[in-house]
Amino acid sequence: MKVFVKKSLEQLMATPEEGASTLKRTLGAGNLIALGIGAIIGAGLFVRTAAAAGAHAGSAVTISFIIAAVGCAFAGLCYAEFASIIPIAGSAYTYAYATMGEIVAWIIGWALILEYALGAATVSISWSEYLNNLLGHRIPFEWCHSPMESAIINNVTHTGIINLPALLILFLLSALLIKGTQESATVNAVIVFIKVAIVLVFIAIGWQFINPANHTPYLIPANAPPAILPDGTTYSYLPFFNHGWGGVLTGAGIVFFAFIGFDAVSTAAQEAKNPKRDMPIGILGSLVVCTILYILFSWVLTGVAPYQDFMRAGKEASVAYAISHYMQHYAWLSTLVTVAILAGFSSVILVMLLGQSRVFYTMSTDGLLPKVFSDLHPKFSTPYKSNMILFVFVGLFAAFLPASIAGDLTSIGTLFAFVLVCIGVMLLRKTDPDLVRPFKTPLVPLVPILGILICAAMILSLPLETQISALVWMLIGLIIYFGYSRKHSKLGNVADILPTASDFEKK
Ligand code: ALA
Repeated sequence: MKVFVKKSLEQLMATPEEGASTLKRTLGAGNLIALGIGAIIGAGLFVRTAAAAGAHAGSAVTISFIIAAVGCAFAGLCYAEFASIIPIAGSAYTYAYATMGEIVAWIIGWALILEYALGAATVSISWSEYLNNLLGHRIPFEWCHSPMESAIINNVTHTGIINLPALLILFLLSALLIKGTQESATVNAVIVFIKVAIVLVFIAIGWQFINPANHTPYLIPANAPPAILPDGTTYSYLPFFNHGWGGVLTGAGIVFFAFIGFDAVSTAAQEAKNPKRDMPIGILGSLVVCTILYILFSWVLTGVAPYQDFMRAGKEASVAYAISHYMQHYAWLSTLVTVAILAGFSSVILVMLLGQSRVFYTMSTDGLLPKVFSDLHPKFSTPYKSNMILFVFVGLFAAFLPASIAGDLTSIGTLFAFVLVCIGVMLLRKTDPDLVRPFKTPLVPLVPILGILICAAMILSLPLETQISALVWMLIGLIIYFGYSRKHSKLGNVADILPTASDFEKK
């Protein structure tokens, strides 16, 4: 069937990716791990940890991190197999096109928009929170919040109009991408160093301020008193997913956001010295380092401040809040953390916008999206029109949605893509058993099945509205596929004269 047409590996390798001619193979396993950490540590840790602890998991958010990490590790092992088979710049979309056919590739590409575009929106909203904190809350509430948020400040209710700082950072970074400033490995290494240093300093100093009472009980009890939210309404812990183990699972779905980005390592495959060996090390190594840091960090954060605080005053810029309220004499650390976080968030947004424009670019050169997404700037050779459209698209979400909704949608889109990648590995073992696999996912089908189960459990634990929104998004995607992409697909239209997909690699 035409919708299941596949790209052959030979075609993939022959497709010059954007800038490919200038990419040099300079990255070793260590650089790849650093690249992964650069894309991974961001708003998930510095904002979503407190959100998950405050509303669902309490101090047991540490266990949420472990569950999310295990899900990511299983999916990561599957990702690594694909990355080693097809070691070119790409993503799950590219892998799916070569192995599972066009329609699955389309579905993954469409889900990746939730991951990258909404992920960028979420981090830019969080950037706005920390900027406002740095400026001593001088930006009026109305101009740095979505219309869906309100708060009572000095007995007056304020409701958001538009999140201007989030738009500002997106605008600046989109302009940077259009100019084609590539993050060099050195710049990335500096930002990674700052981020990891801040996390370590917070863990080391914060450890002394842990109040054991904040860790007891470890899970939120069902009879926990309701929290009073900034807008004066109350929040009950009674529902299944708001306390106990149900809460821990929802917490995992929320903090899963903190791991998003390890797959970004796969986009650097063309720059890796020894991609077949180093890609799996880069993907899994960055996951391991981040998991250890996250568990320690969340243990300290929920030990320093009671989880209820994260529903009230500590809801925004939670790490800076915890330091300035509970760690006497460390006001300087709060400022330092805020500045480092702003820099760190910027690099995450940049990677996500870049990732999104690469996926759009590839989908457009495949004919699945209009040509405008792959038109290159005459001088800068960047997909500038795509970057501008992306700015408007991401900007709309960043300006008018709260971080919680954008973040949950990002998590669900990525989890869905992970489930498909796990299924893909199992399918490919059946359809192409002889394919050369430099890295093999261990214990197939057990590992992919566990990956599917854990990711699906996290999807189910996220709010119903998020699940419905994601479903609607995927339906829109299918309508576009059948209404436009299938007819314009370059591969679909020449499928009859091409050799069948996987003939090449078996030779
Ligand atoms: N993992 C990235 C972050 O937490 C997306 O910001």
